Amino acid sequence: MRVVTTVEALKQALADERQSGKTIGLVPTMGALHEGHASLVRRSVSENGCTVVSVFVNPTQFNDKNDLANYPRTLDADCALLERLGASLVFAPSVEEVYPEPDTRTFSYPPIDSVMEGPRRPGHFNGVCQIVSKLFLMVEPDRAYFGEKDFQQIAVIRAMVADLKLPLEIRPCPIVREASGLAMSSRNTLLTAEEKLTAVHISQTLMQSVDYSQTHSPAETEQWVVATLNAIDGLEVEYFQIVNDTTLQPVADWADAPGVVGCITVYCGRRPVRLIDNMRYRG
Ligand code: PAF
Repeated sequence: MRVVTTVEALKQALADERQSGKTIGLVPTMGALHEGHASLVRRSVSENGCTVVSVFVNPTQFNDKNDLANYPRTLDADCALLERLGASLVFAPSVEEVYPEPDTRTFSYPPIDSVMEGPRRPGHFNGVCQIVSKLFLMVEPDRAYFGEKDFQQIAVIRAMVADLKLPLEIRPCPIVREASGLAMSSRNTLLTAEEKLTAVHISQTLMQSVDYSQTHSPAETEQWVVATLNAIDGLEVEYFQIVNDTTLQPVADWADAPGVVGCITVYCGRRPVRLIDNMRYRG
């Protein structure tokens, strides 16, 4: 496995891989890798001759300076894990390498990016599109792998790929959960042991809500989930929305869309840590 920090070295290494007829899989990450990322890397390694993992904490997608400053950075441990997983190449550039000039491009994909995370994290999806489009142009992967925990992010990236007519496949991969049910996230390392126990209620309540949804409407299910979680000390729901899994627009009835997903964001603990998760109800 090679670790490169410049675009020039990345392109050189990829040219060698392509020349030997290998397909390229890209796993974009911000590091602090966990089992969720590992599942993306394993999938890419099984489907491509060459797997590139980018490790870059992208400043343009953070609308909160503290969040950017507190984001865990663990490159040595990340590289050790990636080596074990069989990644071919790690791309770990500096901010200056990725953004030699400020990126003034704007990306807007309403209505997909104007719900849920969109209005609550202004500029976030624009920053995600800036970095992911750059990575796609630098790596030119055949396939790119993203975790379904960031459900809306995948929908926005799909819209961007269609808009820019980029010749690659987006491969969504299922959420990986800890034994407790907590969705794996780099942010979990910011939780105390006690807060982690509290956070487990998020996935537990979502799982219970699937039963509840059998006899209740989407609006009733939303209210039940929010009330159940807000009753727990240390949790505060920012939003929970049950949406069409393609348009991400709210559904009034379960039959309104072939696929229906509930997306949630919850603040947990004293800091507090912003956690996201989602649950599929139909499709
Ligand atoms: O999901 C993430 O970790 C990030 O948003 C991504 C896709 C690596 C872009 O920085």
